[in-house]
Amino acid sequence: MPGTAVIGLQWGDEAKGKVVDLLTAQHDIVVRYQGGANAGHTVVMNGQKYKLSLIPSGIFRPNVQCVIAGGVVCSPAALLNEIDTLIKQGIAVGQNLLISDRAHVIFPWHKIEDALFDNLAGGEAIGTTMRGIGPCYQDKYGRSLAVRLGDLFKPDFKNKIQTIAGAKNRLFNGLIGEADNSHMLPGIDTDIDAEAVYREYQGYAERLEKYVADTSAYLLDAVDAGRRILFEGAQGSLLDIDHGTFPYVTSSNSSAAGVCAGAGVPPHFIKKYVGIIKAYTTRVGGGPFPTELANDTGQKLRDRGNEYGTVTKRPRRCGWFDAVAARYTARLGGIDVLSVMLLDVLSTFDELKICTSYKLDGRLITSFPSHVDDLRQVEPIYETLPGWQEDITEVRTFSNLPVSAQNYIQRISTLVGSPVEIVSVGPGREQTILCQP
Ligand code: GDP
Ligand code: IMO
Ligand code: MG
Repeated sequence: MPGTAVIGLQWGDEAKGKVVDLLTAQHDIVVRYQGGANAGHTVVMNGQKYKLSLIPSGIFRPNVQCVIAGGVVCSPAALLNEIDTLIKQGIAVGQNLLISDRAHVIFPWHKIEDALFDNLAGGEAIGTTMRGIGPCYQDKYGRSLAVRLGDLFKPDFKNKIQTIAGAKNRLFNGLIGEADNSHMLPGIDTDIDAEAVYREYQGYAERLEKYVADTSAYLLDAVDAGRRILFEGAQGSLLDIDHGTFPYVTSSNSSAAGVCAGAGVPPHFIKKYVGIIKAYTTRVGGGPFPTELANDTGQKLRDRGNEYGTVTKRPRRCGWFDAVAARYTARLGGIDVLSVMLLDVLSTFDELKICTSYKLDGRLITSFPSHVDDLRQVEPIYETLPGWQEDITEVRTFSNLPVSAQNYIQRISTLVGSPVEIVSVGPGREQTILCQP
């Protein structure tokens, strides 16, 4: 089984980091292939908590090669900060990390644009992580104003920065000048100093050079050699730019659709897609969320699950498990098996609800609406299941779970349409139940 992909099936933060760390034991290479420092993946090992944004969650296993592939948008400052933090924590980061020279680079102007356009859009803000992710992908697809990591090492890098900074300054001045938009950018200096940016990025280039490589060539050789590669998705499928709840999404293909394009491997190489779901649902930022609980029950989920953003610390919106949405993303991703995470958070609820269909314009539907306005209108239709009171964080076999918890997992599996392979009952590596096929 050479290629396995780990894909979030909800709106992110499904605990992909924990599953990647677990599955890394059976792989030689771990690849991050889309997104950027908007991701926050947590791995808890020997009681110590590690937070990763750009570096693959395989970094904790010696002898595993980590790769940040070309589909990622890379903030050099964030990456270097992450490397330094890991090294301080005693984790080796050196030749075990490769970064693609095709990865696009995030610059200060991307963060300004993130602030400017999230607010100018009108209506509900997307509520981005303000890491410059969308604007960097925008420049990638626009091409003229884009910079890839490999460009940092070419002789015309300085010219490129001067040209792009000039264009961005004209854009910002125009936007601020034509209407009174300056209040949209409180405290943000929109005047880009090209020389300063050049010097700053030259410094990053010197420090990053030893990690930068043609990772596509590396991965294609690894594919030929039959090495076992694990692909680590960031965000969740409902945040996918094409298939998610547009425009309340991120700017990359965060569903299974993004793996091959972002990593640069042939589709048939990936033999197993592991779908990660929380036992309930969370979302950070704007956009419709049919099963959201803006009440005490939602607060109880937030408290028990410690549902605060890894990157932005924002409280996550919480709600019941939405089987309509998860079935959609599982089908979209051709998911082979499910990992059900944070089941322990549901202990002490008298009853649990699962959304099994939506009511839209008086009709019951089980398909996921393609338009965000329809998703806003749907009424979730629930099935109620008995809860359990027991603490399950020490349980290690499926049959030792309370019967109500077993039934809850089995119901989710049936509704989503995939077997459950892993159940997680706590953040630690050992707090994991492997289910028999
Ligand atoms: P990711 O972005 O998908 O990797 O997920 P995050 O790391 O942002 O969020 C998941 C959070 O849940 C992290 O704080 C994990 O340490 C924690 N976690 C993972 N699995 C479990 C679990 O089974 N139970 C509990 N209570 N917490 C978990
Ligand atoms: P991980 O990998 C949860 C959300 C943001 C916002 C929207 C767009 O930890 O699951 P962006 O900065 O990407 O342009 O923001 O996407 N978002 C995430 N939500 N987990 C993430 O990553 C996310 N990455 C982006 O909150 O609503
Ligand atoms: Mg996260």
